[in-house]
Order: sequence, then structure tokens, then C-alpha cells
Amino acid sequence: VSLPRARSAIVTGASSGIGTALAIELAGKGYRLGLVGRHEQRLTETVGSCLAAGAAGCEIGAFDIRDADAFTAFVAGFGDIDLYISNAGILDGRREGEVVESRGVARTVLDINLIACVEGLHTVLDAMRARGRGQITLVTSLAGLSPLPDAPAYSASKAGLVSYGIALRDALEGTGIGVTVACPGYVATPMGAQHVGNRPFEVTAADAAHRIVRAALKNRALCGFPFPLHPAAHLTLMLPDCMRRLFTKGVRFTVGSG
Ligand SMILES: NC(=O)c1ccc[n+]([C@@H]2O[C@H](COP(=O)([O-])OP(=O)(O)OC[C@H]3O[C@@H](n4cnc5c(N)ncnc54)[C@H](OP(=O)(O)O)[C@@H]3O)[C@@H](O)[C@H]2O)c1
Repeated sequence: VSLPRARSAIVTGASSGIGTALAIELAGKGYRLGLVGRHEQRLTETVGSCLAAGAAGCEIGAFDIRDADAFTAFVAGFGDIDLYISNAGILDGRREGEVVESRGVARTVLDINLIACVEGLHTVLDAMRARGRGQITLVTSLAGLSPLPDAPAYSASKAGLVSYGIALRDALEGTGIGVTVACPGYVATPMGAQHVGNRPFEVTAADAAHRIVRAALKNRALCGFPFPLHPAAHLTLMLPDCMRRLFTKGVRFTVGSG
């Protein structure tokens, strides 16, 4: 008797925060997991949690997502991918005492959060296209809908991913590959701890992961949360500038070391 093949998923940024919670959520559904991040020790800890939660197996990919060769080799070795969650990212922006983020910060944020994410996506997309099915989720941010003055490159990287994901979803219609764009608000994670400022309506990483996985498995186009931040973020760009700035005034911050 041959058992049905376990569903499989790759999660990037699985060594911390939302990514660890996404991996554990999928482990609870019996997935075989590919866990990507730079810190091998923290990925090993995620493996322990996932196996305890019921994962059918775990493979670690300890590399920087900007390393395209390492990414390609990991995806090739992993085999069929039912679900790919592009979640890895960094938060950086204005440090205390600065008016605007530095040029170096802007470049690194765009390189990791936008360029490397899009390139990684294409690596996975090639494998899914060959198979004729798959589900992709891009974890972006409400900052991609409502730009933050203290983190312009972060906001731009997340807005870029929102656009990319929505466009890709339409482009792939009829191919068997679905795309979901997830826009979390404030989530309590190590990244959240770097953010020095007001964090209204903050949710836990487990809550965020539950919402994101549910939307991915239903092939929802957009998964924004929590209420009322998601609709408010959508509205801001339609408001007169003076009203939009009132909204962002309440969430000014600097980036600390966490
Ligand atoms: N926390 C929030 O309030 C919030 C809100 C909206 C959106 N988000 C988004 O949600 C995602 C996860 O955030 P989080 O809060 O869980 O942050 P986190 O706790 O700092 O985790 C970030 C993850 O991304 C990985 N990562 C970062 N740069 C990488 C690189 N160059 N190569 C490989 N892996 C890399 C990290 O792995 P290593 O450290 O091992 O490299 C880590 O696993 C991010 O895309 C973030 O922008 C977060």
C-alpha cells in the first residue's frame, strides 16, 4: 500500500518570527518543509518545533536569499513544491538622530526585500510551471499600502512586492498556479522589537501565520490584517495629503537594535 505523498512547502525566513510560526502552522497540517534563513542554529530550533508539531519532514537551507546559486540548488534538491511562502525580509530605516535613512540602508533593504524575493520567486516559479501547479504567497506589509516616512526603502520594497504579486497572480491565471499577497500590520517578533515607536493593534506571530496560511490555502488574492489598520492603510493614498499625514504621524518610529 503506498501512502499519499505529504504536501510540501518552502518557507523563507523560517529562523525567526512570522516565518517560524508559518512553518509550525504548516507542520500541524502534516507538511514536508523546506526552511530557509541565514542562521543555521535557529533553523535547527525551528526544525525541532516543526517535527514536534507533526511535520512530515524538514530540510534546512542555511543561506542568504541574495545567493541565487544556493537558492537554485536548494529548490532543485527539495523536489515538488506545493506551497512557497516568500517571507524573509529585514526592517531598516531612520536611526535615532537621523532625518532620513542612509543610502546604504536603502540599498540593502531593496536588495533583500524586493530584488532577492523576486529572484527567489522565479526560481520556484520555474519548477511550478514545469509541474503545472503550485501556490505562492508573498509576505509584504501594510507599509506597502501606506508608506512610512521613517522607512522609505522598506515601504517601497513592500509596495513593490504588493504590485508584483497582484500582477503575477493575473499573469498566471489558468496555469494552475495561484498567488496570494499577505499584508500584515504590526506583529510581535524580533523584527518588531527593533521598531522603536507606537505599534497599534499588534498581533502575535502565531495569529499572523494562521491568517496567512488560511488565505494561501484558499488562494485568496489579498490577505491584509488586522482590522481596522488594513482598510485604513488602503484608504490613506486616496486621502488629501494633509489627512494622510495625520495617519502616519501616529506611527512615527526609529529603528533600534532590537
Ligand atoms: N513584524 C512585523 O511587525 C511585520 C509587519 C509586516 C510585515 N512583516 C514582514 O514579515 C516578514 C517576517 O518578519 P518578522 O517580523 O518575522 O521578522 P524577523 O523575526 O526579523 O525574521 C525575519 C526572517 O527573515 C530572514 N532573513 C532576513 N534577511 C535574510 C536574507 N538576506 N537571507 C535569508 N533570510 C533572511 C531571517 O533569517 P536569518 O536572520 O536567519 O537570516 C528571519 O528568519 C518580513 O518580510 C517582514 O517585512 C513583519
